[in-house]
Amino acid sequence: MMAFKRPLAAAPLAAPSLSLPSLSPVRASLTTLPVARPMLPTAKALAPYLEAVDQSGWYSNFGPMICGLEQRLAKRLGPGAHVTTGSNATQLITLTLQAMGLAAGSLCIVPSWTFVATAHAVIQAGLVPWFVDVDPQTGALDPQTVLASLNQAPGPISALIVVAPHGHMPKLDGWCQFRDQTGIEVIVDAAAAFDGVKACPLPTVISLHATKALGIGEGGYLAYQDGALVSRVRQMTSFGFFGDREAKMVATNAKLSEFSGAVGMAALDRWPSDRSQWMARAQLYRAALGSLPGVQFQDGWGVDWISSVCVVTLAEGASVVMAEHLLQNGIESRQWWGAGCHMSRAFSDCPKTALPITEHLASATLGLPFWLVMTEADISRVATAIHEAYGRGA
Ligand SMILES: Cc1ncc(COP(=O)(O)O)c(C=O)c1O
Repeated sequence: MMAFKRPLAAAPLAAPSLSLPSLSPVRASLTTLPVARPMLPTAKALAPYLEAVDQSGWYSNFGPMICGLEQRLAKRLGPGAHVTTGSNATQLITLTLQAMGLAAGSLCIVPSWTFVATAHAVIQAGLVPWFVDVDPQTGALDPQTVLASLNQAPGPISALIVVAPHGHMPKLDGWCQFRDQTGIEVIVDAAAAFDGVKACPLPTVISLHATKALGIGEGGYLAYQDGALVSRVRQMTSFGFFGDREAKMVATNAKLSEFSGAVGMAALDRWPSDRSQWMARAQLYRAALGSLPGVQFQDGWGVDWISSVCVVTLAEGASVVMAEHLLQNGIESRQWWGAGCHMSRAFSDCPKTALPITEHLASATLGLPFWLVMTEADISRVATAIHEAYGRGA
């Protein structure tokens, strides 16, 4: 079994040294800072695209707006990328697994350190999630560690889902080798990694939920170099139809409407400017908190890649204490992935390995307020409260 290790660069500061002044009740005069404040394209930016929908008279079933959006999404991923959109990332993960024709009831390896959607999608696809632990540095599955634990599997394994934690894309070379070596299908749950996904040598699912860096409300897409799999998933989002009215396979309806496509088009127009804004705010956070040894940002966040969440790792056990302290200062925060999927009642019967790293991350990570037009003063307010908790600053 993998030995428990703390993140190397993580805080030497232990949770008990957080010095919290007694602040109850909440400091009265403060306006609450929410943890997120999604900002989709404005009505003005949408107008030309909505007018185009009016003119086409085509409202769903892969009309010109959705096809145009898919082309733009594929172009970002370089030559050879195929993209199909769908109602959300959860549904697309399910359909991708189903499209692979995996043995019903077989195991799908998943990290417990993920949003519950990953495990829900596996069960909806007729597979059984097998929760395994993640790497302490990246918070993602590691191919070598998983390889070494395959002999502990409680049954036959058909698939594995590697998750990009809070938008941080794992390196995919090792996973391609893992798939080739083991015959286990690998798909990437890159729900929050719109910015980080640069190529798709493995089937990769990205969310377009309103809370994501590029949001359209509800939606998602599958990107992959293998057009045959993408085309099969596309059929599965559309009753199993392909060219005629015969259902070629058991399928569902998970299409996006042309109106969702219009929002996606306007969101993509805005993306270069949005990305700069997200990055600038991430840099402010890094500058404001970088001097605290007890606060660790995700590797490369705000430098090489960006997402719509700011998740920091504190000391073991510190996330609850810090969340309470921030709340007393009128600042919301969130433990985005709770205690890990294996702790949810829905998955209590699912097999799992020992999960010490997941448990550590659950107790040490915290999502801080982060949104597109967050002001420098907002960030400074969060940083001051955190410095205060560590016995410095205000
Ligand atoms: C890791 C992960 N997987 C899947 C999802 C589900 O995405 P959607 O809301 O598009 O279904 C999310 C949503 O936040 C997520 O974080």
